[in-house]
Amino acid sequence: MRITSLLVVPWIATQVLLARAAVPNCPYQGPAFAKPKQLAKSAVMQAALANLTSIINAWEVAPANNPSTATWSVQIFAASDEVALWEHHHASATLNMTINGNTIYRIGSITKVFTVLTFLIEAGDKYWNLPVIDFIPELATIVKTDVSDRDPVMNVDWAHVTVGALASQMAGVVKDYGTMGELTQVVDEVTLRGQGFPPVSTQYIPVCGEFIHCTRKQLFHGLQNVPPSWGPSQSPGYSDLGYALVAYALETIANKNFTVMLHEDIINPLGMTHTYYTTPPRNVTGIVVPVGNGYGWTFDLGQARPTGNMYSSVNDIATFGRAIFNHKLITGALTRRWFKPAGLTSAINDGIGYPWGVRRIPMGNGNQGHRVVDAFIKSGNINQYASLLVMIPDYDVGIVILMAGGMAPNANWDLADAIGATLLPALEETARLESHMMFAGTYEDTTTNLNSSITLSTDPTRPGLGIDRWISNGTDMYWFAIQYTLGYQPASPSIRLYPTGLEAVVNGTAVTSYKAVIEDLAAPSRSNRTFSTDCGSWTMQSAVLYADMPLDQFIFTFSKDGKNVTSIKPLSLRADLAKIS
Ligand SMILES: *[C@@H]1O[C@H](CO)[C@@H](O)[C@H](O)[C@H]1NC(C)=O
Ligand SMILES: *[C@@H]1O[C@H](CO)[C@@H](O)[C@H](O)[C@H]1NC(C)=O
Ligand SMILES: *[C@@H]1O[C@H](CO)[C@@H](O)[C@H](O)[C@H]1NC(C)=O
Ligand SMILES: *[C@@H]1O[C@H](CO)[C@@H](O)[C@H](O)[C@H]1NC(C)=O
Ligand SMILES: *[C@@H]1O[C@H](CO)[C@@H](O)[C@H](O)[C@H]1NC(C)=O
Ligand SMILES: *[C@@H]1O[C@H](CO)[C@@H](O)[C@H](O)[C@H]1NC(C)=O
Ligand SMILES: *[C@@H]1O[C@H](CO)[C@@H](O)[C@H](O)[C@H]1NC(C)=O
Ligand SMILES: *[C@@H]1O[C@H](CO)[C@@H](O)[C@H](O)[C@H]1NC(C)=O
Repeated sequence: MRITSLLVVPWIATQVLLARAAVPNCPYQGPAFAKPKQLAKSAVMQAALANLTSIINAWEVAPANNPSTATWSVQIFAASDEVALWEHHHASATLNMTINGNTIYRIGSITKVFTVLTFLIEAGDKYWNLPVIDFIPELATIVKTDVSDRDPVMNVDWAHVTVGALASQMAGVVKDYGTMGELTQVVDEVTLRGQGFPPVSTQYIPVCGEFIHCTRKQLFHGLQNVPPSWGPSQSPGYSDLGYALVAYALETIANKNFTVMLHEDIINPLGMTHTYYTTPPRNVTGIVVPVGNGYGWTFDLGQARPTGNMYSSVNDIATFGRAIFNHKLITGALTRRWFKPAGLTSAINDGIGYPWGVRRIPMGNGNQGHRVVDAFIKSGNINQYASLLVMIPDYDVGIVILMAGGMAPNANWDLADAIGATLLPALEETARLESHMMFAGTYEDTTTNLNSSITLSTDPTRPGLGIDRWISNGTDMYWFAIQYTLGYQPASPSIRLYPTGLEAVVNGTAVTSYKAVIEDLAAPSRSNRTFSTDCGSWTMQSAVLYADMPLDQFIFTFSKDGKNVTSIKPLSLRADLAKIS
């Protein structure tokens, strides 16, 4: 950092903010505002949710979206609210039953989220980088056998496939074994011959899979035949098989039965009474079996259960989602690691996680151009059932969609997109308005007689809390903060505060910290550059300290009832400034 001519006469920063900006604000990754806590009461949310009802009503009457056999349940839930923010249920014309939040559907691959969470509860993520052969003896045996015959083009390099790679679709192994896509299981030999498939040695024809479940022994025997798709950690490649292996590895690590762990760690403690690992008994009320068993209700995945066999309701999935956001089953630190990408896909806004699909959603143009909301998503499809779970940690809000009965392909995604376009802007605006009520205003030194104050505001076109004016002991601290951080005075400086998520109760009083981004909005845009960026705020955090305390860090103190902010402390300046308006 260069510090030049601190002797230049300071000017009032607010005048400068009127200058035309060349680059958008660059917030820290993560929420732009404190997570909203009063979503149900927000007028903006109520308007958005009313709009959603019109949107889904219009969606529902489009014949392409709504074949006569289709049934669905949709719910939007928030960690701060035990009651659903919004829900919608649709019963098919042929289904003679009432559909509600407790109606049970197959959830398909949302099961993978349960499998990974069971792993995290039992073992944490410290096993992610260990080879799976340490925990699955059959795979260790494959590695040891016929070493000379094993080449990396035709044989999976099990010795280097990690548990985490399997849990995040990065193992480079086949999608399934013996089921879903294995032609010899579902098409007869004569037909296959007629279609140009040659006769093959019976050793390559799975003896189990779609109709007869593979035993554990048969599965690992068969896995010796299949080639790798890629080497470990080369490229994302969806693999249902991976989650069956993750569950086997966990059984070794925890020395417990996976089914038992799933129930004891998640389903029972959360009271998910409408959630099942295998087909619910027929006497359970409220299950969706559209038109008899023709829709694959009872089809069991056998050894592949940990990848997609579960049944649940939107109420139960919402309970599950809230427990994740509220850190009920694993720690906050582990949860935050879980909500990070494990890899990238070829789509610029997409990544993968454990087992999430990650979607980076740009929240706007102009001043908001660098505000991105990251969503962690798992979709499912099994027979005639489709599902989707969207988790949005920036707001601790989720969407769950469960569908049955011959929906149009991607109906789960289409519905989520229709909801998201209205929901996300409303969540951001609600968060801003809550933060405005809570934090905006003037704070002054009322204990000593120093001329020290800070004025904060929000702006619907910008992320975070803006510092409009910052005086310390009669000097323009806004000017000095810019000068010490950037080394010069730009035509359009900006200081905005973002929540760190750090919260504590000190002497019975709640406190939280915010981190500032001090930036030059008049800097030339780098949006088309090859390597450089105009959004590198994260590299500048804590760049300037005064006597151990960062200049960019601020502590807010709340009233005893937690409803108001009483003061702000710029950490480096050691002064508590009371909120006076
Ligand atoms: C609701 O829909 C109306 C009409 O399309 C639109 O003008 C308004 O901005 C929407 N409000 C919210 C909060 O989505
Ligand atoms: C629907 O269920 C009700 C109650 O079980 C029954 O009385 C009615 O006859 C059923 N209707 C049809 C069309 O099956
Ligand atoms: C695990 O527990 C379930 C439920 O009790 C049981 O059905 C299953 O056979 C057990 N699996 C093994 C491998 O013991
Ligand atoms: C439902 O059936 C199962 C056996 O399939 C039985 O164990 C259970 O008690 C029954 N529940 C009710 C409420 O009848
Ligand atoms: C305030 O500024 C005066 C004048 O520079 C200085 O003497 C005094 O120590 C300062 N007090 C505090 C608490 O910063
Ligand atoms: C406090 O300091 C600011 C910045 O130097 C100055 O503009 C303002 O007039 C001062 N206020 C009082 C009451 O002295
Ligand atoms: C808590 O209160 C006690 C007694 O008033 C005080 O001595 C102590 O410094 C306070 N702790 C903090 C962290 O403010
Ligand atoms: C980026 O490049 C595109 C296409 O060349 C151009 O239209 C656009 O104006 C450029 N944007 C900036 C900010 O330079």
